[in-house]
Amino acid sequence: MLNGKIFIKTFGCQMNEYDSNRIYDSVSKLGFIKTTNQSNADCYILNTCHIRDKAKEKVYHEIGRVKKLYRDKKKPIMVVAGCVAQAENEEMVKREPYIDIILGPQSYHKVNELLKNHIANLKQEETEFDTISKFGYFDQIKNNDNKISAFLTIQEGCDKFCHFCVVPYTRGPEYSRPFNTIISEAEQLIENGAKEITLLGQNVNAYSYKENFKEFRISNLIKHLDQFSELERIRYTTSHPRDMTDDLIDCYSYSNKLMPFVHLPIQSGSNKMLELMNRKHTVDDYLKVYERLKKINAEIEFSSDFIIGYPGETQKDFEDTLELIKKIKFINSFSFIFSPRPGTKAAKLEMIEKNIAKERLTLIQEELFNNQIEINKSLENITINVLVENKMEKQNKLFGRNKYISPVIFDGNENLIGKVVKVKVQTSNQNTLFGLLDKKMEAA
Ligand code: SAM
Ligand code: SF4
Ligand code: F3S
Repeated sequence: MLNGKIFIKTFGCQMNEYDSNRIYDSVSKLGFIKTTNQSNADCYILNTCHIRDKAKEKVYHEIGRVKKLYRDKKKPIMVVAGCVAQAENEEMVKREPYIDIILGPQSYHKVNELLKNHIANLKQEETEFDTISKFGYFDQIKNNDNKISAFLTIQEGCDKFCHFCVVPYTRGPEYSRPFNTIISEAEQLIENGAKEITLLGQNVNAYSYKENFKEFRISNLIKHLDQFSELERIRYTTSHPRDMTDDLIDCYSYSNKLMPFVHLPIQSGSNKMLELMNRKHTVDDYLKVYERLKKINAEIEFSSDFIIGYPGETQKDFEDTLELIKKIKFINSFSFIFSPRPGTKAAKLEMIEKNIAKERLTLIQEELFNNQIEINKSLENITINVLVENKMEKQNKLFGRNKYISPVIFDGNENLIGKVVKVKVQTSNQNTLFGLLDKKMEAA
């Protein structure tokens, strides 16, 4: 049975996507084969996210769906992985006996052992914080991801403890992987065909690895990746305003591969709210980073994350956030109503009225979406560089992204996948640009 099919359904951030791929790499050593058919698997993994809303309830709902899918079939080995698994651990098995294995994000190096033990008939729960052996284990296993745009986790966990956030509890303390192991994994990804690498971390720019009295920062990684001739583009996410150090900002002055797009969450445009959230930076700190980056390269654009309706947010605080959005003109952003997370400081605070929070979210999103529409519109009739990622499944078209990570859809031959081509934008909507391939490029 160890050579069965395995299906992973992934929720949450890019780090979960990276983890799911590494789990596939690990279980393939046992003989498991990845399947994209969720109703025909011998092992079904839910890789969960705990950041907002009714995360736990969503997992039980998903398991209910899997139960239905397999009603007339052999039950798959049911694994709950990810941040909900870490937060809820054994509670979940008690409530839902259909679950066979609970696997926290710091225990993925134990997945093969747990599957083997399960087949030998033991219920399993593994949610210890053991990040070092996790990465130590995965360093021994080749990364088989063969996407044109690949993720590479360099840092995990968080020591900042923003009062609203569950990440320090689900991902544990900050840990930075050794410099050399990241570089050799990048080499594997490039060998597999990657043309773009996105360095990942919950606080990716807090990356700090010390060896022989020398500190390696994310700027050192970028500098090194910059030299790989087969690599076209470098990105990183998610960065924290406090860790935008001079050496990182300076990378934009010499790296041609570092894309001029910074995802830099601020959460609120009000200093009072930032303090209540325990963000440890002010609006002014943020604006200084913005200005320094713009000075180095005026082409750099920003996106951000916003939490609306955090306890204590007044109309004035909200207007300050709107003001900031008008000033910076973020080219895309994530905005959500505050969602109290169990175990965090903010969970005990008095919530502001739901209707007010909803109204504010609508206004914020109107502003953010209008920016997005405007920026996409301004690219119409302009020829842009696009890294072609794949052929679209349902349409006979190519899919790629511009330097600002916006999706671009256009007609073209499959042999352009993996190349940077020129596309003249014809039309656009809020999220996507539609264009025509530059004919000279097609001939190339
Ligand atoms: N480390 C990054 C930073 O501090 O900028 C953010 C990482 S967090 C996984 C992604 C985003 O989720 C945050 O920027 C925040 O906007 C949002 N988020 C986290 N906790 C939340 C909560 N309780 N309610 C609503 N949004 C939340
Ligand atoms: Fe969460 Fe704050 Fe850490 Fe970001 S910095 S992961 S928002 S605690
Ligand atoms: Fe979600 Fe965990 Fe990522 S809570 S956002 S999957 S770090």
